[in-house]
Amino acid sequence: MAEPLLKLENVTAGYGDAVVLHNVSLELPENGSLALLGRNGVGKSTLLLTIMGYTQMRSGRVLWRGQDVSKVPPHKRATMGFGWVAQEREIFPSLTVEENLTVAARPGPWDLAAVFKMFPRLNERRRNMGNQLSGGEQQMLATARALMTNPALLLLDEPCEGLAPVIVDELIAAMKLLLDDKRIAIILVEQHTEIALELTADAIVLERGTVAHAAPAPVLAKDTATLERLVGLRVAATV
Ligand SMILES: Nc1ncnc2c1ncn2[C@@H]1O[C@H](COP(=O)(O)OP(=O)(O)O)[C@@H](O)[C@H]1O
Ligand SMILES: [Mg+2]
Repeated sequence: MAEPLLKLENVTAGYGDAVVLHNVSLELPENGSLALLGRNGVGKSTLLLTIMGYTQMRSGRVLWRGQDVSKVPPHKRATMGFGWVAQEREIFPSLTVEENLTVAARPGPWDLAAVFKMFPRLNERRRNMGNQLSGGEQQMLATARALMTNPALLLLDEPCEGLAPVIVDELIAAMKLLLDDKRIAIILVEQHTEIALELTADAIVLERGTVAHAAPAPVLAKDTATLERLVGLRVAATV
């Protein structure tokens, strides 16, 4: 059997003395998609940070195509094909949209033309400075910038958070294109549970830093009892 793209084995990790994640295991195949759900503060962002190598791991292993990368620093993981969009977006305010994109570029199918096709709004704003963008445009730019590194894995941390419904629709359409394309694996942290489960193949739910539930996304989407218990039901139709 082929090695999964990403595998976490009993990962316990956190910040300094504070252990946030306990014995987290998961697997993601090449071009797979995983929704990462759970209430506020359960460790979703910490899990993405741990995959990137930004936290302190106490025990367990992170494997990339079968290779143990637990001790590989974040910048090195980025060159190996890990792509991450921080919850805070972190675009460069004094660079233009186009400069924000090209500064991160690595060779591959995702170039300026490809990301502008996916996010036409960024093309219209290409000469604008990073600090002249709306929240939605910043999210698009942060996502497009990660794509410009041509990653094999894209980690998206609440991309729709705080955005107007019309922008949320645009972002969801872009994520759908990305996932249908099946050339990239995605882990999506999303408060809009129904949307996340519609987009992805698999799902895990965290509770207090551990994996409380794992299921195929379409199965979990119908499991209202589990969703109510671990996530709290949110009505996606209103977004
Ligand atoms: N830099 C940090 N240092 C110490 N604790 C942190 C830090 N960032 C987050 N935490 C703690 O880790 C826990 C999980 O946070 P987080 O991963 O952001 O949760 P989520 O993304 O699910 O809302 C919380 O208790 C939070 O206070
Ligand atoms: Mg978070």
